[in-house]
Amino acid sequence: MSNPIRVAISGAAGQIAYSILFRIASGQLFGKDRPVHLNLLEIPQAMNALSGVAMELEDCAFPTLAGLTLTDQAEVAFDGIHWALLIGSRPRGPGMERADLIRINGPIFVGQGKALNRSADDVRVVVVGNPCNTNCLIAMNNSDVPNDRFSAMMRLDQNRSKALLAGKSHLPITAVSHMVVWGNHSNRQYPDFENARINGRPATELITDTAWLRESFVALVQERGAAVIKARGLSSAASAANAAMDHVTALIEPTADNDCFSAAVCSHGAYGVDAGLIFGLPLRTRANGTQEVVEGLALSPWAQEKFNIVLNELRTERDVVKDLL
Ligand code: NAD
Ligand code: LMR
Repeated sequence: MSNPIRVAISGAAGQIAYSILFRIASGQLFGKDRPVHLNLLEIPQAMNALSGVAMELEDCAFPTLAGLTLTDQAEVAFDGIHWALLIGSRPRGPGMERADLIRINGPIFVGQGKALNRSADDVRVVVVGNPCNTNCLIAMNNSDVPNDRFSAMMRLDQNRSKALLAGKSHLPITAVSHMVVWGNHSNRQYPDFENARINGRPATELITDTAWLRESFVALVQERGAAVIKARGLSSAASAANAAMDHVTALIEPTADNDCFSAAVCSHGAYGVDAGLIFGLPLRTRANGTQEVVEGLALSPWAQEKFNIVLNELRTERDVVKDLL
């Protein structure tokens, strides 16, 4: 077995963590032949609960789990790590928007951004805690880690979009590709059905109900998180953990067959997005494990309007946290 990959997970006693930790520890994410050392970060009040999670991890006797570090200090959690999954932050409740959390959760990512300077040279940072795009912006701006190593999760939105298009067309999920979700993990995100493909053909050739696509589909994806909260009384956890697994895998494995995936990354100006914003874009992972933005996707005037709405939302969020950048 090779040297352990070191993975930090914040919010490790929380709900999403409870759905992802066991999958990572079992070797499902980094491979059955790659031992993993988990650095579990929590706030002091949750350290007792975290010790129970650690007991359960130990009791699974996973051959790939090389070790656990439990801490309430970000500097300890991020020391020498190769991956940081920044989940720890407050979830919204019924009737709230994710942006309502911005001044509650944003400050967490100032200190954590600085603490990331202790990580390994090749660290990759994935922000899940909401509002994840702007929290990622804060962490990135407070860290010396290169900007291209930060991303925020749009994958749950991509997965929700694919599930809806597959269901509507009565085809398997695997038939849906090129599912881009532009912009922000918010209710103004734009899930781009015009560029999506089903069985390699434009989705709009198989689903010809334009009213459903423009109104129902887009709104269902935008409001899915709120619908889960309304029904469950708690925000999505297992599907969020699953999306985080998919997100990391997409960053590691070369993207197949001319497809692309969605993640929010630091803009370099493609599609007219302000440089430096953390914006959901179509990406491909090259054979060497780096990412490129897929350029040249066409947006109809209708879609461009949706795109501009979410771009302006992220500009506003950036202004709201400018003292934290
Ligand atoms: P949770 O309340 O169950 O767990 C959050 C954990 O974070 C808690 O144990 C808490 O003690 C811990 N925490 C808070 N501040 C921390 C800090 N400074 N350092 C370390 N840990 C800290 O919440 P959850 O359901 O696991 O959700 C976590 C976050 O993920 C929320 O902000 C939620 O909105 C977000 N989320 C994002 C997506 C997405 O697609 N991006 C999807 C689902 C949930
Ligand atoms: C989701 O999309 O399910 C999460 O971001 C949780 C939320 O607040 O909606």
